[in-house]
Amino acid sequence: MSKTIYEPHPSISKKAYVRSMNQYKEFYKKSIDNPDEFWGEISKQFYWETPADPNKFFSYNFDTKKGPINIKWMEGASTNISYNLLDKNIKNGMGDKIAFYWEGNDPEDYSRLTYKKLLEEVCKFANVLKSKGVQKGDRVAIYMPMILEIVVAMLACTRIGAVHSIVFAGFSSDSLAERMVDCKCKVLLTADSVFRGDKLLRLKEICDEAMQRSKKLGHEVAACIVVRHLRRLNCSINSNNFENSPASKPIPMTDDRDFWWDDEMEDASSSCYPVWVGAEDPLFMLYTSGSTGKPKGVLHTTGGYLLYAATTFKYVFDYHPGDIYWCTADVGWITGHSYVVYGPLANGATSVIFEGTPFYPKNDRFWSIVAKYKVNQFYTAPTAIRSLMKFGDEPVKKHDLTTLRVLGTVGEPINPEAWLWYYKQIGGDRCSIVDTFWQTETGGHVLTPLPGATPMKPGSATFPFFGVLPELLDENGKVIEGEGEGYLVFRRPWPGMMRTLFGNHERFEQTYFSKFDGFYCTGDGARRDEDGYLWVTGRVDDMLNVSGHLMSTSEVESVLSEHSSVSEAAVVPRPHPVKGECLYCFITPNQGMTFNDKLVAELKLRVRERIGPFATPDIVQHAPGLPKTRSGKIMRRVLRKIAVNDRNIGDTSTLADESIIELLFKNRPESVATA
Ligand code: WT7
Repeated sequence: MSKTIYEPHPSISKKAYVRSMNQYKEFYKKSIDNPDEFWGEISKQFYWETPADPNKFFSYNFDTKKGPINIKWMEGASTNISYNLLDKNIKNGMGDKIAFYWEGNDPEDYSRLTYKKLLEEVCKFANVLKSKGVQKGDRVAIYMPMILEIVVAMLACTRIGAVHSIVFAGFSSDSLAERMVDCKCKVLLTADSVFRGDKLLRLKEICDEAMQRSKKLGHEVAACIVVRHLRRLNCSINSNNFENSPASKPIPMTDDRDFWWDDEMEDASSSCYPVWVGAEDPLFMLYTSGSTGKPKGVLHTTGGYLLYAATTFKYVFDYHPGDIYWCTADVGWITGHSYVVYGPLANGATSVIFEGTPFYPKNDRFWSIVAKYKVNQFYTAPTAIRSLMKFGDEPVKKHDLTTLRVLGTVGEPINPEAWLWYYKQIGGDRCSIVDTFWQTETGGHVLTPLPGATPMKPGSATFPFFGVLPELLDENGKVIEGEGEGYLVFRRPWPGMMRTLFGNHERFEQTYFSKFDGFYCTGDGARRDEDGYLWVTGRVDDMLNVSGHLMSTSEVESVLSEHSSVSEAAVVPRPHPVKGECLYCFITPNQGMTFNDKLVAELKLRVRERIGPFATPDIVQHAPGLPKTRSGKIMRRVLRKIAVNDRNIGDTSTLADESIIELLFKNRPESVATA
């Protein structure tokens, strides 16, 4: 039998900021008993143009019965994030330190950026944004690959108090348009194209479609600024006759709307005085799927987010000056915001930023990058670990991974098998694994081990971070003490949590605070074991998690239902060995329409095009009817069972028509293996 508890290796604990559980408990107690003092102390690491009032460090209301939900940290203080991340570090002698090593999709492409150079670029681009009319509070949409300009773009926004709204560059043009219209962005930033593995993605073309669609929906951007990325690459597409390569295809540019990044930067001044903004002024927004309706624009503000991203980064990765840190997440997701950009830079860290995929040019790419840069902290997703496990240990053994100390995972529960492989094969039985539970909404880690302190249990996100007060509630909202399982909620805000949904505070209150008065509701379930460890068990709402990408069943259902042959669609998650979950779709065709392979292919393509490739359904099954309650609600619980061929469907007494169940079991595509 394998062990159930893994103590941090003494070599890790010895050097850590937090070296034992007792020390963790001490810090944690202070953060809960005296949050003003705890975070007030931390806030002194940063520059405030106007300091916070220590007697009114934070205020909040988590109870809809007592009035509107509000969360405020250091209200009245003012600062600038780019100033804290760049100018301040440079003043402290870090100007020539590397902020980022950039590693391209192709190993021949790489570069680096110092703090000094990053500041210069940020100031120049802030001036470019100003020249396009961008002012404090304006939204700037960013649809960019993992290139250094995405960091420059984000920080340039913060320099002038503009609000960035990044859309992951794997979303379709429709998804991008919907988000641009919702946030009414003034400017859109992108790149010509990018290679992911050997696939070429023409980002500017997607942006053109999105801008066209956005215009139809009544919103026009003032400018679109495009990084000329492909031409500067060294890799074979350029050396082998660029003019004849697909990458050389001209990029259509619309006069007076589209501009090349490098042209704009040429004459831009490299000085830009920071705009001081309020601690509670918006920093950025980032869309996340909602279980109903359109995506939610999660809004984060300046002061609290800075404190929280910086502090979680320091303690959870145990980052010490001189370490090399690498987070593989795309900047288009919250993980990239907090732990590629804001957290690391706030600590003056040196990071790797990687444009490519784990499988290109070969399946050892991650490990070759760890060895190349002598990475100390490595942060990735369970789905990546599982997909790399498949190739065995050979690709790993080729590389020296002994510099690693901390291994992180995020995005979904990690199965013990993947955890153990990560621990043994990547971590050499020596590294601490931090299984970090958090959400776009939480801004930073909320449940996580600390590498030098927490004895690890494979699959458990363990204990709360400083300042976080988790509870488990039963269906009636009663707090579960000790061992048990229930809804994972939080009793109190920490500095980095979201403040509202952009333009829709009512939906914010409804989604997160209406289920249980006085608590922020995560939408996840969790279990507390006999040692007090927390195990996140997954979503309790109609959301599913494919390769760490959260999406709602209704979002996919509405795309499927738009097809002219489809009468009704129901989507459920089904366990998947690599992706964690995949989409299993039940389709009821319109009267007279036949269900065939052509329809299946069309439906898959439609979801791909409308939402993005990561949302492509794995299985589309014919459903002559759907299991519904007498009131017409689809019983997804039953469909989940059918998806895995489990006949144990439980109580069906509320079903309007029980005969449909047998039909659906019979209609399971033969190619589907039983789970
Ligand atoms: C949802 C949030 C936070 C960045 C990535 C995803 C799931 C996330 C874990 C974990 C179990 C996890 C939850 C959560 N999740 N991390 N360590 N263990 N589940 O951000 O898209 O906002 O998704 O991801 O279900 O609610 P997101």
